[in-house]
Amino acid sequence: MIVSVVHQKGGVGKTTTSINLASALVLNNKSVLIVDMDPQGHSTKGLGIKLEDSNLSVKDIMIKEASSLFGQFWGSDVHEVIYKGPRAGLDLIPSNIMLIQALEELYGRCSKNFRESLLSKCLLPVKNFYDYVIIDCPPGLGLLAVNAIKASQFLLVPSIMSRLSIDSIIDLLNLTKRIKGDSFEDYRILMTLVDPRLRSTNEYVLEELSAYSGKVLHTQITRNEAINQAQIVNQDIFAFAPGSRGAEDYAKLSKELLEIWEGYPSAHKTP
Ligand SMILES: Nc1ncnc2c1ncn2[C@@H]1O[C@H](COP(=O)(O)OP(=O)(O)OP(=O)(O)O)[C@@H](O)[C@H]1O
Ligand SMILES: [Mg+2]
Repeated sequence: MIVSVVHQKGGVGKTTTSINLASALVLNNKSVLIVDMDPQGHSTKGLGIKLEDSNLSVKDIMIKEASSLFGQFWGSDVHEVIYKGPRAGLDLIPSNIMLIQALEELYGRCSKNFRESLLSKCLLPVKNFYDYVIIDCPPGLGLLAVNAIKASQFLLVPSIMSRLSIDSIIDLLNLTKRIKGDSFEDYRILMTLVDPRLRSTNEYVLEELSAYSGKVLHTQITRNEAINQAQIVNQDIFAFAPGSRGAEDYAKLSKELLEIWEGYPSAHKTP
């Protein structure tokens, strides 16, 4: 299954969630590929991978896909841009600022429909090798996010407890319906960076979110210092502080999502 972690607002926990959810899934014996679709390359750095300009990255597979349209073949095959992550079972297609260059090229040369479907096509040969492909989206709702949404079966929308953050979910869902059709319902909203002391704000936001009935995950990710520190040393929360509140929250998130995606643990319970 391909899952985009997406929200147009910056700093709402997309990268943190991509890395820690992927790690939690691996700890549940799932194989996971993270695709870094952010030119900031945060999940690439967060997994401890240092990319030089000459190293292959997600832009090379997108350029290859686009160049084939013109009967020209350059760029790289998806298998060549998969890097091993810090845990067995966790791989990465990395990104850096050069992804912007690829974007400019695509705008100039391809039709809208073609350029929006590139990532989907790129992932076709590898998606079945993994239980889950998790796409860490950049902020904004530009071409990169559109490619990610188009390629995904499921959207995970991290949001902070603020009016503006939840207001933008409407635009994201409208865009998603344009891309995937009006009947698309396979998304969940995840509250992140939650500070339980801000009771009135939290209550207000959750009340507003009741409009998305059944779409807000029970699990909330609490603001936790260990999560920030783990990011500073480029580790996932389970490697950095397995006993922390952050590790507990992301483990819980993986269980709740596995239940939605696989009927797990009920479907896998031993009698
Ligand atoms: N639960 C948390 N507790 C404490 N700090 C957190 C938590 N979640 C995220 N952070 C911190 O908040 C900052 C923003 O998080 P993150 O980079 O995951 O957001 P993002 O949505 O990916 O941002 P961008 O849109 O720029 O890609 C980071 O410094 C991260 O370490
Ligand atoms: Mg990010």
